[in-house]
Order: sequence, then structure tokens, then C-alpha cells
Amino acid sequence: MDDKTVGSGSDFLGRYPVPHRVYAQLRRPPNVLVTGGTGMLGTALVPRLIQAGIGVREISRTPPRRVSDAWSAVDLASGQGLQQAVDGIQTVIHLASNESRIGVRSFEEIAMERLINACERAGVRHLIYVSIVGVDQIPLSYYQAKKNAEQLLQRSEQPYTILRSTQFHGFIDAMLGQLFRFPVGLVPTRLVAQPISPAVVADQLLYLVQMGPLLSTFNMGGPEVLRVDKLVKEWQLYQPRRKFYLPIPILGSVMRAFANGWNTCPAYAIESQSWADYLQKQYSK
Ligand SMILES: NC(=O)c1ccc[n+]([C@@H]2O[C@H](COP(=O)([O-])OP(=O)(O)OC[C@H]3O[C@@H](n4cnc5c(N)ncnc54)[C@H](OP(=O)(O)O)[C@@H]3O)[C@@H](O)[C@H]2O)c1
Repeated sequence: MDDKTVGSGSDFLGRYPVPHRVYAQLRRPPNVLVTGGTGMLGTALVPRLIQAGIGVREISRTPPRRVSDAWSAVDLASGQGLQQAVDGIQTVIHLASNESRIGVRSFEEIAMERLINACERAGVRHLIYVSIVGVDQIPLSYYQAKKNAEQLLQRSEQPYTILRSTQFHGFIDAMLGQLFRFPVGLVPTRLVAQPISPAVVADQLLYLVQMGPLLSTFNMGGPEVLRVDKLVKEWQLYQPRRKFYLPIPILGSVMRAFANGWNTCPAYAIESQSWADYLQKQYSK
């Protein structure tokens, strides 16, 4: 299938956010399967789908913490139980992800291949894949795996949409926690990021469910592109003790890619929760 990569899609993203009442006016919603519904994005997405009146099934290896009668255990690496989960479904939103390799192949590729086969057998109308901004440019093995998974989908007969997002607030928060786990942090201050709330990505996925397959790849990012030293400065305000760090230079092609901002898409920034607002909300709980 031809993918008219819109790396973008300004018309399409320009319609964000879609008020929930719009969904209420639409005809009976499709049945949706969410893979990886227990993850950071899935936790924001599944309740939104349910609230919009959509019948949801979800799969992962371990059950959700919230009560869910729609969950079943499926390991996408083995594919056991996958076909039963996909049968009768109209839209699959594929969020399940990990960085592992199984033999010479990545989990991302194996999972995508299994899903495409299961979807084609079940006659699924739309397979939505969440990817990451910059997977086609940044030489990180996880990104390469996601790029390969995108290509498997683009070259298949399965109708699809690919939504590439920038990094979620909670992910960057956790990364900074890792950098500062030692008494003095070693921080690549010149890298940049465009943090986004997973709730905003979840809203866009809800919209895509209603749109149907677009056979395209779209980028979306948070409201601001920030250097890591700025992210750290704001983050430090909420840490129990002030922590010190040594700036480290840009070393190697991966860091250079993140310093060049290839992980960002300022032209497709969504006006939404800022990094400062996220921190304020997260740490005042
Ligand atoms: N985090 C970010 O900043 C970010 C940014 C842009 C795009 N994305 C993309 O968005 C998607 C969701 O990310 P996320 O941060 O929400 O992920 P996450 O928090 O790491 O959650 C991953 C989900 O995948 C499930 N999973 C992992 N291995 C599985 C397997 N073998 N079989 C079935 N389920 C499996 C996990 O549940 P179990 O472990 O219980 O199976 C979990 O529900 C991913 O494709 C990611 O690449 C993430």
C-alpha cells in the first residue's frame, strides 16, 4: 500500500481537540482492541474509549490495575490467544511495545507481523500503530525496530494509520530520575525534547478510530521544544533535594540526532499541557 507520509497532516491535526459530544452524535461505534492497554498511553486511552461508548477489548501479558472485564492475557511475542482477541474486532490500536529481541528479530517486528496476519484473517477494518517521531532518522536500535514495523504495515494489505508521537511527560520524568540516580548527574544538556501528555495522544487516537484508515503516517508533538537543561531546571524544582550535574558533550550519532531535534516536530506542536504544568500537577499529588 502507498503511504503518503504526511510526517504531519496539518489539516487532520488542525481539528484537534474533538469535543466528546461529537462522538455521541456518531453512529454506533466500532469494536476496538487495544494492545498494551496497561502501559502509559493505554492507561489514558482505554477509559477514553469506554467513556465515548466504544466497546473495548484489551490485551497485555499482565492484567491492568484498574478493574477490567475486557482484558485477556496475550503475549504478542508468541501470539498465543491473539486470533481469538482479534476476531470480531473492527479497529485495533497497537500500543504494546518493548525493546527486546527474539533471536535476530525485534519484538516490534514480530508483534506487527502477528497482528497484521490476525487482522487480515479477521477482516479488521483499521490497524492503528503508535510510533515515535524520528524513527526514520535516529540510529537507535529500538527506533529502527519501530521503523521496520511501520514498513511491514505500510507494505501489507491491511488498512492502517500510523501516528508518531514525541516523548510522553512521564517517560522524560523517569529518564531524568535515571540520570540523577547517582549523587552527581551526567546530563547531555544540549539534547532537546518536545514532551507531550499521553492524554493528548489518546484523544487523537480516539479521533482516528472514528476517521477510519488514512493509509498515512502522522506526526504529533507537545506544545514546546525544550533543551534538556531547561527540562532539568524545572524538574529540579520538584525534587526533595537539590541535585548537581555535570553537562556532558554530544557523543556519537544518536546523541547528535537528539541534539539536532530529529525527535521533535515543532510544526505539529499541539497546544496542550506544558512540561511545567505536568510537573506541577504530578508532584502536587
Ligand atoms: N513512552 C513514550 O514517551 C512514547 C513516545 C512516543 C511513542 N511511544 C509509543 O507508544 C506506544 C505505547 O507506549 P507506552 O509508553 O504506553 O508503553 P509502556 O508504558 O512501556 O507499555 C507497554 C505495554 O505493552 C505491553 N507489552 C509489552 N510486551 C508485550 C508482549 N510481549 N505482549 C503483549 N503486550 C506486551 C505492556 O504490558 P505487559 O508488560 O504486561 O505485557 C504494556 O501494556 C509504544 O509503541 C511506544 O513506542 C511511546
